[in-house]
Amino acid sequence: MQVPWRDRRGRLVKVKAAVFPLLFIPGVLAAYWWATGALGGRPVTETIYDTGLWTIRFLLISLAITPCARMFSWPQLLLVRRMVGVTALAYGVAHLSLYVVDQNFALLTVASEIVRRFYLTIGFVALLGLVALGITSTDNAVKRMGRNWKRLHRLAYPIAILAALHYFIQSKANVSEPVFVAGLYVWLMLWRVLPAGWQQRWVVTPALAVAAGLAAAWIEFSWYALATHINPWRVLAASETVRFGLRPAHYVLLCGVAVAVLVLVRRTEPFVRRRLSPLRTG
Ligand code: HEM
Repeated sequence: MQVPWRDRRGRLVKVKAAVFPLLFIPGVLAAYWWATGALGGRPVTETIYDTGLWTIRFLLISLAITPCARMFSWPQLLLVRRMVGVTALAYGVAHLSLYVVDQNFALLTVASEIVRRFYLTIGFVALLGLVALGITSTDNAVKRMGRNWKRLHRLAYPIAILAALHYFIQSKANVSEPVFVAGLYVWLMLWRVLPAGWQQRWVVTPALAVAAGLAAAWIEFSWYALATHINPWRVLAASETVRFGLRPAHYVLLCGVAVAVLVLVRRTEPFVRRRLSPLRTG
């Protein structure tokens, strides 16, 4: 049997061996907190939140792998994309299973809640989408499906939108975290719609940072305008300054700036090393 950290010929793949154990950390921590009573009186509910958060986080991480591999000229990163995507599915299945536990295994109630409550319906559709991607992730499926495989796996983009919408709706009045997630998603999608020749250019990274930050502010404004009775202009005004603390749009901008700086460091590193090497040897 092929283990996840080896390739088809049985050779160790370092990047896979390094990433594989990290994927278990949120699950192991949740189990530890549950066992030690750190989750308070409602451990099932707390773990539903936790597994939901990690589902969407791993989904975004899997979408970030291609841009990172290209921008940082680090193609080995692509070797862990499938692993991370399947991890999103695993946390999603745990999330739904805990919901079933929370409903005392009353499967008919679970089914009727999924049909009745819109945020559960879209969560469920997103999870079905992840299942479809998961079961077509084997080497055989990739070979058998040919070009259709790529087409099918583009479903990850609308799945992430459904997952984010599920997150928004259940968060009700405070949508700071979903707005942050949505802003990062916009960054990832904007990078994808860039012409291929631009995707690896450093100059696009500051522009993406600003565009994703503005998009996050706009998404937050639209949410408060359309889905709540909170004045969206006051929320927008808070994003125009840092006097009231950092808003999600600021965090999105900061993440984009961090990417720009890291890509710059990565690009200048060989140049600096070349400049320093005569000093060391001399
Ligand atoms: C890809 C699929 C899914 C993703 C990414 C996802 C993600 C999330 C996230 C991020 C949260 C909020 C956690 C927090 O506020 O800290 C959440 C909450 C929740 N999700 Fe999901 N979810 C998915 C599918 C489902 C499904 C299929 C169900 C059940 C049918 C479900 C039921 C719930 C429930 C009950 C909550 C807590 C709501 C509350 O008590 O206010 N989710 N989910």
